[in-house]
Amino acid sequence: MGKLDGRVAIVTGGGNGIGRFYSKAIAGEGAAVVVAEVDGIAAQLTADEIAEDGGRALAVQTDVSNAQSVQHMVDETIRQLGRIDILVNNAAVFATIPISRVGIEELSEDEWDLVYRVNMKGMFLTCKAVVPHLKKQRYGKIVNIGSGSMLEGAGGRIHYTSAKAAVVGFTRVLAHELGDYNVCVNTLAPGSTLSEKDPTPEIVRMREAATARRAIKRVQRPEDLVGAMLFLVSPDSDFITGQMLLVDGGSRFY
Ligand SMILES: NC(=O)c1ccc[n+]([C@@H]2O[C@H](COP(=O)([O-])OP(=O)(O)OC[C@H]3O[C@@H](n4cnc5c(N)ncnc54)[C@H](O)[C@@H]3O)[C@@H](O)[C@H]2O)c1
Repeated sequence: MGKLDGRVAIVTGGGNGIGRFYSKAIAGEGAAVVVAEVDGIAAQLTADEIAEDGGRALAVQTDVSNAQSVQHMVDETIRQLGRIDILVNNAAVFATIPISRVGIEELSEDEWDLVYRVNMKGMFLTCKAVVPHLKKQRYGKIVNIGSGSMLEGAGGRIHYTSAKAAVVGFTRVLAHELGDYNVCVNTLAPGSTLSEKDPTPEIVRMREAATARRAIKRVQRPEDLVGAMLFLVSPDSDFITGQMLLVDGGSRFY
């Protein structure tokens, strides 16, 4: 018996990096998982891995920044799996599709727009399309992925960090809008995580440097996030909404 038996979960950006771990962990608790990913090959590979482990998964190539693509993803989920209970908004331009780490003067307007279109508007589009299904059944879980980086606002990546700060406000408003329907909306904020499959020595050095300010001084890995994710999508957190859960080994206390 899994904690999520009979549930259907959508994980955006669920084919690579940390999202792949969320997809597999949620499936491991018995939910059918829709891997909604712009990288169609990665989506299929993750869905295949879940099936090999005895779980149920559906790969749907999805661009979260495109309303039609998001609607197609929701329609396919309902057509093939019949319902939606859980939405994990994890997709972002960040590592698999990299962004630059530069100061405001070097940052292009195009990259600013791309980050807001995928990382923020994408969350709006997926929630807008999924919320009617959650309201109808008067139960659901939405987990929006934020980032611990927005608590300190270190220099560089003002587009990424400010969009992650927006996730917190977005989550609080939606928690209020959906409380009467027993739909919980929370932010899960990872610290600096070694999520790349084949990280360059430079990336490894950067992730190692993050350990210095932690209470628990080691590199954070995707596995460190799955327990918090499973808590936020399971009935164990049914009276917790509008919150941000920071999982970063104790880098920041807020
Ligand atoms: N790794 C970290 O240090 C860290 C820290 C804090 C927060 N986060 C957040 O955690 C989440 C996962 O990060 P990650 O490290 O695995 O990065 P990642 O770049 O590997 O994962 C993002 C996923 O989103 C997908 N994606 C990109 N654009 C998309 C689109 N338009 N539509 C659908 N899918 C799209 C990518 O293909 C990828 O699979 C992101 O939201 C990221 O901002 C990561």
